Amino acid sequence: MRTQVAIIGAGPAGLLLSQMLGLEGIESVLIERQSPEYVRSRIRAGILEASTVELLKQVGVGERLAAESMEHRGIYLQWPGERHHLDFVKLAGRSVSVYGQTEVTKDLMLARERAGQQTYYEATDVELHDVGGDSPYVTFVDASGQPQRLDADAIAGCDGFHGPSRKAMPEAEQRTWEKEYPFAWLGVLADVAPSTDELIYAWHPDGFAMHSMRSSHVSRFYLQVRPDEDINAWSDDRIWAALTTRLGAGQHGWKLETGVVTEKSVLPMRSFVTTPMRHGRLFLAGDAAHIVPPTGAKGLNLAVADVALLARALTTWLRDGSEKLAETYSDTALRRVWRCTHFSWWMTTMLHRHGDDFDAQLQLSQLQRTIASEAASTELAENYAGLPIGY
Ligand code: APR
Ligand code: PHB
Repeated sequence: MRTQVAIIGAGPAGLLLSQMLGLEGIESVLIERQSPEYVRSRIRAGILEASTVELLKQVGVGERLAAESMEHRGIYLQWPGERHHLDFVKLAGRSVSVYGQTEVTKDLMLARERAGQQTYYEATDVELHDVGGDSPYVTFVDASGQPQRLDADAIAGCDGFHGPSRKAMPEAEQRTWEKEYPFAWLGVLADVAPSTDELIYAWHPDGFAMHSMRSSHVSRFYLQVRPDEDINAWSDDRIWAALTTRLGAGQHGWKLETGVVTEKSVLPMRSFVTTPMRHGRLFLAGDAAHIVPPTGAKGLNLAVADVALLARALTTWLRDGSEKLAETYSDTALRRVWRCTHFSWWMTTMLHRHGDDFDAQLQLSQLQRTIASEAASTELAENYAGLPIGY
């Protein structure tokens, strides 16, 4: 079997790339390890930058997004006794939208089904071959147990942190940077109306807490926990008690509504970057090349920004015969990757309890500064609401 672009991984990066290539008349085949039901039901973060929303609309997957997403002007930053609103629209001229990554994925899957392009779900033993040469190919075993070979002009590695694409890069040329944080998030989904109009990021001596949302009747919460935290130690009552304390319910008349917890899980926190993002005819995009801790809500947005560049680079190469953008893809993408890596690290280290009481005082001073100075709050707003694609 032959195609123009073999895409490994049907997460948001792979699905969006296939959609954008399809619009330019470039054919692709998607190879995904999981089943479509599994991909459709994975719970992930939910904040879209303005440029992400714009791009999804431009490429024809913005209809449900426009109808169902909630536009937020900013966020609340808080610490004991104080809660402050940061207005991104005023500070940076851009808003953000609340729309779950799960929903983005569903919209993209539907678009791909409609486009009638080939997708192999439940593929096993996915291997990349000859990525440095002119005739790369992918081998795998399809869902019915048949061995397959897919020849392509280019391979897009959109297979997340654990996928095989990054490992197919020559080790001698790769450089990686990694940081594990000494804490994790307990993520909680609950059937309860949000107790806030916009997201709350809270510093607390007991650890970070966040109040996010998915809709007018579903809320999403996070609590800082230990990386080896036993999820069974967190009963629903303990979760609500911790959220009540850390989010400051009872202060200034604010109340936290509670409801039925429908899902809870522990999420590790790490920063990871690998370079280059291209070798020969293999291109990495999204979590395959970089991971950020979720505190700045950058993971999905960064994957989308990579794909915007990669779709253009592959189109000009495979359709128009110019390799120029393919040659600059890695360096261009990495400028934004490192910016978002810094921002996510900065938000994470400012808001999570770690170190000693001296560190806590520095965090509180940084939070106060971020609110008090327009220059400091604008810096947060510009990064959070998102830099223009191609930054
Ligand atoms: N073969 C085929 N597919 C694979 C393999 C494999 N061996 N290994 C992993 N995959 C698939 C995964 O099942 C997943 O569907 O690759 C896909 C990668 O998708 P994501 O992990 O969602 O990564 P990406 O598309 O880059 O999206 C980035 O997702 O993880 C979040 O925080 C991240 O929000 C960010 C976004
Ligand atoms: C989420 O809603 O899941 C979410 C929101 C903001 C973040 C991280 C996660 O920074």
